[in-house]
Amino acid sequence: MEAKFDVELVKDVKFYYPPPEVKEKSWIKDYSVAYQEFLADPEAFWEKMAQELDWVRKWDRVRVWDYPYAKWFVGARLNITHNCLDRHVMNHRRNKVALIWRGEEDEERVYTYRKLYREVMRFANGLKKLGIGKGDRVCIYMPMVPEQVIAMLACARIGAVHSVVFGGFGVTALNTRIVDADAKLVITADITVRRGKTISLLPIVEEAIVGASSIEKVIVLRRKSPQSELQSGMEVDFNELMEDVENFCEPETMDAEDPLFILYTSGSTGTPKGVVHTCGGYMVGTYYTTKYVFDLKEEDIYWCTADPGWITGHSYVVYGPLAAGGTVVISETTPDYPDPGNFWNIIEDLGITIFYTAPTAIRMFMKMGEKWPNGYDLSSLRIIASVGEPLNPEAFEWYYHVIGKDRCPLVDTWWQTETGMQMITTMIGEPMRPGFAGKGIPGVVADVVNKEGESVAPGKGGFLVIREPWPAMLRTIYKNDDRYRKYWYTIPNVYTTGDLAVKGDKGYIMILGRADDIILVAGHNIGTAEVESALVSHPAVAEAAVIGKPDPLKGNSIKAFVILRVGNTPSDHLTSEIIHHVRMTLGPIAMPSEIEYMEKLPKTRSGKIMRRVLKAKEMGIDPGDISTLEE
Ligand code: WT7
Repeated sequence: MEAKFDVELVKDVKFYYPPPEVKEKSWIKDYSVAYQEFLADPEAFWEKMAQELDWVRKWDRVRVWDYPYAKWFVGARLNITHNCLDRHVMNHRRNKVALIWRGEEDEERVYTYRKLYREVMRFANGLKKLGIGKGDRVCIYMPMVPEQVIAMLACARIGAVHSVVFGGFGVTALNTRIVDADAKLVITADITVRRGKTISLLPIVEEAIVGASSIEKVIVLRRKSPQSELQSGMEVDFNELMEDVENFCEPETMDAEDPLFILYTSGSTGTPKGVVHTCGGYMVGTYYTTKYVFDLKEEDIYWCTADPGWITGHSYVVYGPLAAGGTVVISETTPDYPDPGNFWNIIEDLGITIFYTAPTAIRMFMKMGEKWPNGYDLSSLRIIASVGEPLNPEAFEWYYHVIGKDRCPLVDTWWQTETGMQMITTMIGEPMRPGFAGKGIPGVVADVVNKEGESVAPGKGGFLVIREPWPAMLRTIYKNDDRYRKYWYTIPNVYTTGDLAVKGDKGYIMILGRADDIILVAGHNIGTAEVESALVSHPAVAEAAVIGKPDPLKGNSIKAFVILRVGNTPSDHLTSEIIHHVRMTLGPIAMPSEIEYMEKLPKTRSGKIMRRVLKAKEMGIDPGDISTLEE
């Protein structure tokens, strides 16, 4: 593929320069120096990182690469929960706050490391009582409550492999995942709370396990009063299970390459893929990135708004920050409930210093207007971060100015369920370029290539690939290794991410979107992300999604679905103005031929726009599997 971009993109025109003290005070100090250190001896680089953590037995080899299979810290033995809990309980962090949970009614629950440690061990002992042990798969289907984190860590404590299914999924999605993983147990709650309403989870589980013969028991966290009835024999109360057990639970000694968890991610076709992550490499990768990308320090109050049910939550709510001894905030709330000031209120109230959220949330906040964040004191913030989809320049600017007050480094982190850890970003202290995620972090060799795997010149679009294995990479797709091999065989010798990207002349990478989110218009590849970014740079546009529509002349024409910012109304005049704006921004080739105004866009629960659904609706065809659709 060869897409053309304008000169500005290549020339690296606009950067924001953080003050020099950011660099001086950071763990990373200097990106280029660290990157050179990594290139000079990749194994020594990762070994040094691994040395910061505790191991039952150290490795014989740092890495064994047998294309397309990598093993990391070969021969090492460990338990990740020892590093997330015991290690801190044995030092000055014993009574440090590990977890602060906030509910919708301003309820708050606080766990010190000591308390979290004890609860995890008690629950782990409860799991053992039910006959769960090393290698058993456990499905966790819970709301965002501390018990969700406790359940994950308890599984890891005893070597059971957790498969967390996001609490917003429905019966079929849950059933498919339980069946694929042959889970013995589901851990759930009776209800979840969202925007002032309670939503029942238990009936979904009860229906999802019909025909799932591997399931032996269901553990239920009962939140409702009066208490929900449990089905005797099958259902066990979460808290009762912890009642008459020992306080201590010896951590299971795991091989570095033993599986830690399975997490399902949707593929472009077929059933969801069970991405398998292992104990040792994943621990080192998430610990390292939490510490260095977020520059996590002892006194930070860190809030990642993701649900632990997604990879972002696994890596940057649970394992990374706890391994690094951080204070982690989780909140079972939505950005705009009870009002659009909710997140800013939490930041002010808890004194959040590092804030990690998604572009879709940022664009929603842009739409609601500055008065909401401006009503709160956000001066505790020192680093702001983004993940999940391209952070378009307008959203970058808004986040940087309105939330970060031109003071906080903004780290746009590119990574995937499969990569396990952050891969591309602008390390703090480095100049930031709106629209560009950045470069491979030290430890990661990222590139933009053609079909043959050759690097393409700056300004030319190509496939985003990773050239070398990294510790937190997926090891396989559960029960479907062929699908794993595809990642490394699509373009020989490199890991194909499935994303398209383009580099500027200083090596910064702009992510254009998924390769399948590409529209071929009159022989030109047009990235949906690029057009959407142009659309939202119009002052009246809050959010946009584009699709290709078959066109007899051009192959495809572009149709845009647009949500307007508050205070604007659809009109023919506005439509031509927006189209003209895209024409001026990207050129006539990327101009939408049609605009439809919407109140809402179909999105996955992780915030990705489902263009497929828009397209199916447009063409009057069946949208296919929409189990990941939010509403
Ligand atoms: C896909 C992975 C990694 C956690 C959340 C999503 C897109 C992710 C960025 C970013 C542009 C991004 C990519 C990637 N993506 N982060 N900073 N800039 N795009 O995990 O569901 O596995 O999705 O999300 O397209 O391939 P996931």
